[in-house]
Amino acid sequence: MDAINRLLVAAREARENAYAPYSRFSVGAALLTADGEIFTGCNVENLSFGLTLCAERVAAFSAVAAGKREFTGLALITDTPQPVTPCGSCRQVLYEFSPDLWIISANLEGKQQMYRLQDLLPDAFSAEF
Ligand code: THU
Repeated sequence: MDAINRLLVAAREARENAYAPYSRFSVGAALLTADGEIFTGCNVENLSFGLTLCAERVAAFSAVAAGKREFTGLALITDTPQPVTPCGSCRQVLYEFSPDLWIISANLEGKQQMYRLQDLLPDAFSAEF
């Protein structure tokens, strides 16, 4: 199985664990590290809505907590007619570690779209400033 399919399978599995009783919008994410490991995340909501964490950030923080800081690809899965893109906050968090990241968005039917993080977050706030 190639890296993209491995990531998509992992993201789909992670989505099953989404805790989204308020939005009922379950998201799964899987992040591939430069050394070939996969870290997954799902969205975790809270009754105090602002505390909700997106699937992408759960995956990223889990990877960083395990000592990984370089990522090559992120897969994102939702049950939507069209694949969705990561929210602005997640784009900024991912950019911190891997501006060159590839993002593969897919829906449950297998419709896919690929993006470069740099294209989704042009003129990003970065350490260069
Ligand atoms: N959500 C994500 O997990 N990732 C995204 O890229 C967009 C939004 C979550 C947050 C919240 O739990 C639900 O989807 C609805 O916004």
